[in-house]
Amino acid sequence: MELRHLRYFVAVVEEQSFTKAAEKLFIAQPPLSRQIQNLEQELGAQLFERGSRPLRTTPIGRFFYQQALKLLSNAEEIKLITQRAGMTERTIQIGYGSSLMCGLLPRIVYLFRQQHPHLNVKLVELNGMDQIQALKEGRVDACFGRVRVSDQAVKRVMLREERLVLAVHSSHAFANCKQPISLMQLKDEQIFTYPSQSGLGYAAQIKSLFLEFGLEPKRFHVLDGLQQSLGMVAAGEGICIVPESVKMMQFRHVNYLALADSAAQSPIYLMVRNDDEGQYTRPLFDCVYQVYDLEAIEYDRRVF
Ligand code: BEZ
Repeated sequence: MELRHLRYFVAVVEEQSFTKAAEKLFIAQPPLSRQIQNLEQELGAQLFERGSRPLRTTPIGRFFYQQALKLLSNAEEIKLITQRAGMTERTIQIGYGSSLMCGLLPRIVYLFRQQHPHLNVKLVELNGMDQIQALKEGRVDACFGRVRVSDQAVKRVMLREERLVLAVHSSHAFANCKQPISLMQLKDEQIFTYPSQSGLGYAAQIKSLFLEFGLEPKRFHVLDGLQQSLGMVAAGEGICIVPESVKMMQFRHVNYLALADSAAQSPIYLMVRNDDEGQYTRPLFDCVYQVYDLEAIEYDRRVF
């Protein structure tokens, strides 16, 4: 007798019909009937009243039903306890681009921890191409980033596009402007962006955004990080274009303004290794989409 026989028997008792039980179990009725006959033979007991409609269990069948429920529930418990015990040692390492920490990332990670208390979560700040490299080398299991680069070893899913905004000093001519600012108005400004270590990250996206409009800002400075760039804005040295969620970083004398151009957006990706089986990363996707639902953010649900 195997657990499968118990599952079949329980389904027939609960559905009071072989036909309905077979549908519920996604098997054909003849093999189901055969399995129950085999079970009765092995037990040497008749479990169902012959010819009863709806199907009724015999007294010994009712006894066996109660025992079968207990056994199935024990088996499920053993499975869960073992799975949890195996999981406690597992750490999921998540890389993230710095600006994402200002947005929904903390909320997503919090939810993930709540839903997967047996997993350790380690967050690693990584920008640009370092994210791809870290994934390939196994230093992280998943990365939230903005790099548009494809790599054969990496699966990349775009979660959404985030609007970009302009950060200016409170004394800047645009500081109290009520109208959205266009990129054209910024071409002669000193523009700070980040990070400096790779040519393919966020800084490159900002550059290509201007190029898309045929603009080539002359005074373009790439700094180490987001904080440095906003620090420069706060010091009145220039302007900075940042994802909208960065607005929560309040620097004294930094005003955030809307940008007029609809192309002023930056993608947010979730990346994992190509050979990832999704055991831990699929739940991470689920958490992202749950947070999007809670925040009423529109998205196009995609998983691997
Ligand atoms: C978002 O703002 O959509 C986001 C931020 C961090 C991780 C994932 C998504």
